Amino acid sequence: MSMRRIAILPGDGIGPEIMDATLGILEAVGFEAEWVRLESGLAAIQKGLPAMPHETIEAIREIGVALKGPTTTPSGGGHQSANVLLRRALDLFANVRPAKTIPGIKGPFSSHDIDIIVIRENTEDLYSGIEYQPHPDVAQAIKIITRPGCRRLCDYAFDLMARQGRRRLTAVHKANIMKLTDGMFLEEFWRVAAMHPGVRADEIIVDNCCMQLVTNPEQFDVLVTENLYGDIVSDLCAGLVGGLGLAPGANIGVNCAVFEAVHGSAPDIAGKGIANPTALLLSAVLMLRHLGEAVLADRIHGAVLRVCAAGRCLTGDLGGAASTKQYAQAIVDEARA
Ligand SMILES: NC(=O)c1ccc[n+]([C@@H]2O[C@H](COP(=O)([O-])OP(=O)(O)OC[C@H]3O[C@@H](n4cnc5c(N)ncnc54)[C@H](O)[C@@H]3O)[C@@H](O)[C@H]2O)c1
Repeated sequence: MSMRRIAILPGDGIGPEIMDATLGILEAVGFEAEWVRLESGLAAIQKGLPAMPHETIEAIREIGVALKGPTTTPSGGGHQSANVLLRRALDLFANVRPAKTIPGIKGPFSSHDIDIIVIRENTEDLYSGIEYQPHPDVAQAIKIITRPGCRRLCDYAFDLMARQGRRRLTAVHKANIMKLTDGMFLEEFWRVAAMHPGVRADEIIVDNCCMQLVTNPEQFDVLVTENLYGDIVSDLCAGLVGGLGLAPGANIGVNCAVFEAVHGSAPDIAGKGIANPTALLLSAVLMLRHLGEAVLADRIHGAVLRVCAAGRCLTGDLGGAASTKQYAQAIVDEARA
């Protein structure tokens, strides 16, 4: 039998460091795959390629599964986001971001038992990238929401509820102000909800949602929302359970899936060997489940939970002093124990 192939995009900043740690752990627990390393981000630009080269996109399309490190996108001017290009080119329409309390991780919310999944639309909204300046003092951006885009996201969200045995699905929106765009999203949400009478469905305005997430986060189960709200709310949820170093994600399309951490390239700590690889590692755990490798996924996830609970070998973002490599070794030792 030929070996399974997985596309690898190390990315920028801390990307290569956390990717090495993650692949080392996967290999150490016995996961066999051919890693197909592809260009992206600043490394691609330095070679005169676009941030997300056509060859990379086509290779992922052919392979079907990718593990991706974060890529840097300059604010203001500069190149277009490699992520936005990739998600749009491969039509990775659903971005699934779980945020779950890890026992032993200390923070203002560690006494809470949080288990939230944010399902973020990944291809539409203000990420259309269409901006223009009709006057030197006026800049405008176009928010694009389509009915089929809303419908397939809501179909995916309600299917996930059944598949994962979740209890409550909440649509997050701002339809009181964005009456046409967010109004369309809500209409489709309730249309799909009517086909799933077994799921408890409700809706909340995004600003109230943020306030309630920091006052009573346990009430929430699964949130489904548009691209921009999902981007912000999922970082907020990551903060509730210990920070960006712990928050995994999956970009799901019809024929492809790209797994990546919620966080960015963390230029402030890049090259220091101190980044927390957990978010990318837990993204790889989601990838293993997607590939039907539940036993290996459980083994790695269990090791992460035990290492964090013991609190002996944590990276700086979690209050410890371990390097990326020391933490990765602790995960391997625990997974093999
Ligand atoms: N999916 C992606 O590729 C992605 C996502 C978000 C941001 N970005 C890009 O990343 C760059 C930096 O963005 P930013 O600074 O706003 O956000 P960031 O997520 O890179 O960093 C925010 C803060 O969290 C810390 N942090 C993030 N990940 C960490 C980890 N694994 N371990 C320890 N600490 C970690 C950083 O040190 C920083 O203090 C920007 O160019 C942005 O466009 C990329």
